[in-house]
Amino acid sequence: MCGIVGYVGKRQAAPILIDGLYQLEYRGYDSVGIAVSDGNSLEIVKKTGRVREIEGARGLRGTLGIGHTRWATHGGINVENAHPHTYQRITLVHNGIIENAQKLKQDLLQRGEIFSSETDSEVIAHLIADAYRGDLLSAVMESCARLDGSYALVVFCEDEPRKLVCARMRSPLVVGTGKGGAVVASDLSAVAEKDATLYSLNDGEFAQLSETEIDFYRSSGDKINKFPIAFDLEEGNSDLKGYRHYMRKEIDEIPDVLRLSRQKFDENFRNSDFCKVLCQTEYIHIIACGTAYHSGLCAKTAIERICRIPVEVHVASEFRDSDPILQSGTLVIAISQSGETADTIAAVRLAKRKGAYIAAVVNVKYSSLTRLADTVLYTQAGREVAVAATKSFNAQLMTLYSFAEALAAVKGRRAPSLNGFERKALRTISLSESVQSWVPYFVGAKSAYFIGRGEDMCTALEGSLKLKEISYLPSEGYAAGELKHGTLALIEPYTPVVAIVTRREIAQKTMNAVHEAYSRGATIFLVTCFEEYCGMDEVKASVLIPKCPPVFSPVLSAIPLQLLAYYTSVARGNDPDKPRNLAKSVTVE
Ligand code: F6R
Repeated sequence: MCGIVGYVGKRQAAPILIDGLYQLEYRGYDSVGIAVSDGNSLEIVKKTGRVREIEGARGLRGTLGIGHTRWATHGGINVENAHPHTYQRITLVHNGIIENAQKLKQDLLQRGEIFSSETDSEVIAHLIADAYRGDLLSAVMESCARLDGSYALVVFCEDEPRKLVCARMRSPLVVGTGKGGAVVASDLSAVAEKDATLYSLNDGEFAQLSETEIDFYRSSGDKINKFPIAFDLEEGNSDLKGYRHYMRKEIDEIPDVLRLSRQKFDENFRNSDFCKVLCQTEYIHIIACGTAYHSGLCAKTAIERICRIPVEVHVASEFRDSDPILQSGTLVIAISQSGETADTIAAVRLAKRKGAYIAAVVNVKYSSLTRLADTVLYTQAGREVAVAATKSFNAQLMTLYSFAEALAAVKGRRAPSLNGFERKALRTISLSESVQSWVPYFVGAKSAYFIGRGEDMCTALEGSLKLKEISYLPSEGYAAGELKHGTLALIEPYTPVVAIVTRREIAQKTMNAVHEAYSRGATIFLVTCFEEYCGMDEVKASVLIPKCPPVFSPVLSAIPLQLLAYYTSVARGNDPDKPRNLAKSVTVE
């Protein structure tokens, strides 16, 4: 993870770096630092904590600089381990993990070199300094050839004070012109502006930046001609627009996101040959992590019920180290908001090696996954700033349900209607505000449980993940029918239990589990589309969501759970947008 940024140009670098780092803070916020050069001297400011900690460095003088916001992997959270790292005349920032760092470090220690941090990144600075013979680009290329693992690097040498060199291997990097010079960053948001021309670096590529020129190279040293990427400034807009937190704002954006994602799927589908692939599809494997994995589980219930095609859903980190059986006629769907999740990418690479056709459901344009996939089904969530996924989950569901509808059509089956969800989501958000009255039962609880059957179980898993990641309250999502097989032992008086009940045929069975929990003292909350359950004595409070085809209900039933997690987090004094220990883009394996 980590976010990196660099600038060389006419303007003062420090404010550009700091503003860019605020945009990249979603990638990690354990520590932060910038290095700025005025051509003669280099000044470095590093602090633990968030970008705001280096606000005082805005006044540093110099028109070249690099910056970094860290999500710790190698070494604790302290100033020594914060980037930029310097060795001799070399200073760099790094995003990624160098797998052979220990081995390389041992060799360097034996040569008498002294390290000032525990990071793998500092090892790269040593390699480059040792390889430097008057040409920074060659030294970076030579050093990168010795690295195993992933890296996005921006490197500066005091002997060539108007130049930055960048390298990419399995960690994202965008390079271009803008802000009166040349810019580089982990993503567009940190450097995009109206007249910028931006390029995306591929694995194994290098870039050399000066105020007036940008050159791209392969590791062979050959120059590359690259085409600029198209970007929409509005999409990168991350204004809070009067909201206190991004997470709350992003939940309110769900209705629009559902409409746009559905529209986009139709466009994608009409214009692609993907239809032919669907004709031959007999099995589907879905690969994803975290919330995206939960949207995969929801998709499985929909695709199997509607299309009668078997679907397996895999946690990407497990799939990538397995020996999967992918017979012919298998379609692999990889789901990822960021398109940069290292485990998902590794799993897709494995599936590709096994000959599978890959469709990627991705939110972020030009992300690594979009370049690996045979077809990209873009979700239209727009930029999601809060670390906890909300609108991107609903967008993934809408795209995957649209996919199920399209697959059904190809297979000659009928799908329930996906119309009206924008309106229903709007209504659900307004009805779900009442979960604020549930919060006192959760704030002081030891643990909480979310239960459901079928698609409601998938929603339960997501509701539980949301609550635990931003409120730090232990919680479990469970198949309602499984409760009595063990977990019921954990239910004590006042333990909050949230039941999700949206499918008529199995509603009573979920309610049986509710009765069992209630009899042991649990406080019961309900998310349902059946009014008759809301008034029951056992139920402390409920949200009655609009009726919809049950197979698509997670699009709506997840909303009150997202809001419950948000309000509980705020009540516990947490920052829901930046939960501890987490980052938005998980580019480590
Ligand atoms: C939870 C959350 C994570 C992500 C997971 C995968 O709120 O956001 O669980 O869903 O890290 O990320 P992407 O979708 O970017 O691959």
